[in-house]
Amino acid sequence: MDPVLADAPALAAHVAEWMTDILEARPGPAAVALSGGSTPKLLYGMLAAPPFVDRVPWDRVHWFWGDERFVPQDDERSNYRMTAEAMLGRVNAPPGNIHPVPTEGMSAEEAAARYQITLQAYHGGQTLDPLRPLFDIVLLGLGTNGHTASLFPDTPVLKERTAWAAAVTPKGEPTRITLTYPALESCRHAAFLVAGADKRDVLAQVRTSAVDLPAARYRPTGELHWFADQAAAG
Ligand code: 6PG
Repeated sequence: MDPVLADAPALAAHVAEWMTDILEARPGPAAVALSGGSTPKLLYGMLAAPPFVDRVPWDRVHWFWGDERFVPQDDERSNYRMTAEAMLGRVNAPPGNIHPVPTEGMSAEEAAARYQITLQAYHGGQTLDPLRPLFDIVLLGLGTNGHTASLFPDTPVLKERTAWAAAVTPKGEPTRITLTYPALESCRHAAFLVAGADKRDVLAQVRTSAVDLPAARYRPTGELHWFADQAAAG
């Protein structure tokens, strides 16, 4: 297990350092799959402020989303909106390096298919190769029901091993577009960010694989980190 951080701000600072080190060391273009939800918001704000804002090689980092709610970009539920407000709208990231999931003017299924094409265009191919990962960094959150990205328990997308993105409609949730396990697992570095006492039980279940939860099935080709704060780690 990685070091347990004192609290959410300490977790965000630790992950900001971890990400920046990786991005600085990576020659050429680097791809990051961003997580939505509330946990990473602090992290995104830190990356957009000193000292990290002066270290991140914004000109060569490409930003993608691990999942997105199928709502307009100005909708308060939009992960793109949250990330733009917290980070990307405050830094010198070239617009061509920002690759939001399309969420308007088409069906959710079409949006997922379009996003797969976007990912394949960046990757320069249509097959995922462990020797040439799609992402340099994948950030993931953990839901209290064990979901990650929009890979929710007992949904068909958990079995998807070909498509890179899919449209899903979890019970009681708006339709979402999620990357699938193959796409999310194709990375050099992956990290779950888990903060808050409400995640204690699910984190323990996932870490011990006591229960077959979507987050516990995640097997990245690269290194996997669990960055948790004291409240979540118990
Ligand atoms: C989303 C996320 C989702 C999130 C978890 C944890 O779009 O909501 O991708 O998987 O990471 O639900 O969310 P919190 O960080 O808000 O607890």
